[in-house]
Amino acid sequence: MRRRTDALGALLADIDQQQRRRVQRVSSRSPRLGSAAISEIDGRQLVNFCSNDYLGLSQHPDVIAALRDAATEHGVGSGAAHLLGGHSSEHQKLECELAAFTGRERALLFSTGYMANLAAVCSFAGREEVVLQDRLNHASLIDGATLSGARLVRYQHADAAAALERIQTHKNACMLATDGVFSMDGDIAPLAELASACAAHELWLLVDDAHGLGVVGPEGRGSVAAVGLDSAQVPLLMGTLGKALGCFGAFIAGDENVIEVLLQRSRPYIYTTALPPALAAATRVALRRCQDEGWRRERLQTNIARLRSNALQAGIQLSPSNTAIQPLIVGDSGVALALGNHLAAAGFLVGVTRPPTVPTGSARLRITLSAMHDAAQIDALTAALADGLRTLRDNASIPAAP
Ligand SMILES: Cc1ncc(COP(=O)(O)O)c(C=O)c1O
Repeated sequence: MRRRTDALGALLADIDQQQRRRVQRVSSRSPRLGSAAISEIDGRQLVNFCSNDYLGLSQHPDVIAALRDAATEHGVGSGAAHLLGGHSSEHQKLECELAAFTGRERALLFSTGYMANLAAVCSFAGREEVVLQDRLNHASLIDGATLSGARLVRYQHADAAAALERIQTHKNACMLATDGVFSMDGDIAPLAELASACAAHELWLLVDDAHGLGVVGPEGRGSVAAVGLDSAQVPLLMGTLGKALGCFGAFIAGDENVIEVLLQRSRPYIYTTALPPALAAATRVALRRCQDEGWRRERLQTNIARLRSNALQAGIQLSPSNTAIQPLIVGDSGVALALGNHLAAAGFLVGVTRPPTVPTGSARLRITLSAMHDAAQIDALTAALADGLRTLRDNASIPAAP
């Protein structure tokens, strides 16, 4: 046993040496703090620029009230898996509403987006087949391919021509999976081109729209709706409920038979407890507010434009993105950590994302915006960022821009 515990010590030392140690911090976001854009950590209030609660719906009073009322009605836990008595009327209604929202015949709820992606890939890809994926896809899509036993082949990021070349090379390719909005980069996949390549070669196209749903497209219907692709073009559409909708869980939407096969075959659906019904009830309200309160998306867009324009003026090079995810790639993990610490000291909570979550040499600040930020907070973040970059440059931690 001694040898095994020593090996753990060596493993952690190696993580530290690479500046890749992840830290769990206790933080609270609460309506009592007066804004969904504020987090409290160790008694200090920081402006939160790392949440995926893009519309602020997690703190919408109607959503909170729906959760409380439904828990009073249904209790807290669902008590069982969906197919063993855990599927309540609230789950059923939410599935119907998600199907209507995405313009699909049917939707199926999953406990998390991670599980939904495992389910989607494993149910439609087999051992002798090839699954094609964008290089920068979310880990859950990659893990789905591994679990399915299919061969995973990646193509150049957001490059439809490279995807087509792989499709033509791998005659046994059965599926292409891509993020709609990329989680670490904020850019959008070339969905129309990918859809026509998949249709021409009879591949399943799976789009993970975790970061597009609620944010882009008409009434926030997502990146697939934004380019008008139907279920024939995107047969497998995955969305999460814990990001722009401010709740928890996920779903896959598609044609009747596609969803029925998932229900019959997918282990992450069959062998787990159903979401709490109260959560489904709260999500139904969030979905309605997401559609009705278009001002939230408008404010988010205004905030995105403001941050990008501020950054341009300050000579800060954000990655090209028009979504709520606005990365600042600095390359080195130590530099990214130092910048994140500088921002925290200045009162801003920003995600520092390092390998292996992102490719080696592309550590970054993953800045996320919300409709709940105001102009002053965005201006202050830009000033603190510029200050941090200047300090690091003066200390020669990052090379000066050419
Ligand atoms: C692109 C993408 N897909 C899937 C997931 C997983 O969703 P969930 O957090 O519901 O498991 C995430 C978020 O973590 C994500 O960013």
